[in-house]
Amino acid sequence: MTIQWFPGHMTKARRQIEDKLKLIDVAIELIDARLPLSSRNPMIDDILRDKPKLIILNKADLADPEATRKWLAHFKEQGFVAHPVDASTGKGVKEIPEQVKTLLKEKLERQIAKGMNPRPMRALIVGIPNVGKSTLINKMAGRNIAATGDRPGVTKGQQWIKTGGNLELLDTPGILWPKFEDQEVGYRLAVTGAIKEEILNVEDIAFFAVKYLLRDYSERFSERFGIEKLPAADTDNPDDIVAVLEAVGRKRGCLISGGRVDLEKASRTLLHELRAGKLGSYTLEMP
Ligand code: G4P
Repeated sequence: MTIQWFPGHMTKARRQIEDKLKLIDVAIELIDARLPLSSRNPMIDDILRDKPKLIILNKADLADPEATRKWLAHFKEQGFVAHPVDASTGKGVKEIPEQVKTLLKEKLERQIAKGMNPRPMRALIVGIPNVGKSTLINKMAGRNIAATGDRPGVTKGQQWIKTGGNLELLDTPGILWPKFEDQEVGYRLAVTGAIKEEILNVEDIAFFAVKYLLRDYSERFSERFGIEKLPAADTDNPDDIVAVLEAVGRKRGCLISGGRVDLEKASRTLLHELRAGKLGSYTLEMP
């Protein structure tokens, strides 16, 4: 099953963000450190145009540190400023105003040269659902901001949230949609739990989880599930991947009558253990 991607969502999201651009000095784009490609909308740079941008690799606590280092180097090579954060504990958050200041250095210097007293820097947080926008806003504000959302019928002015370090945030983040035209994008997001299982088939999600984990973390995978020698899996061969999923099911006692493996149960078990961190930190896309 493929996920429907509604161009109308994107048009609306785009307009909402474009309306806010004139209010801000800088955009803070949140992406999931485990999925730096799938968790960003490829149109974002087009939408933000020449607005300075800080990329935050959020949920860095859940990502493979070695992969995060590679991604940071990759973004740097591309001329972007990127910074790893764990918004839930606040690790990396206090450096954000400093990073923004560096991005706006020339603008701030020009203002000072003209004898102006620079007003607080203003930022908009943008990102796809579930990437941690509200968590980051709350951490930066040092308190819980009521989720405002863009509810119909509720008109209110823009609220600026003060954070430390001369930086203010718009209280409503810009929401983008992932690019679902590539169906693996949806599955990668679903493996991390960013897309609910009601939309995608759980066995398909687990299938992709096995595929990605075998490619980059096969040793850890076999250790966790006590599969001494993984079936000689070729991550491009669907039968091999299903054979591994069955081996997981057998190890976890997910069986149905006749001794066959209950694939749905095996899939849920695998995804549950992965999301509970039992397989350690992981990144599903490499630069
Ligand atoms: P959004 O506004 O972009 O939609 O995302 P939100 O802040 O609601 O975060 C989505 C989920 O991701 C939340 O978990 C949140 O706690 C978690 N999260 C955000 N940032 C981080 C991070 O840096 N590291 C980790 N490990 N998790 C993060 P939830 O299960 O939906 O809610 P709850 O468990 O917080 O109640």
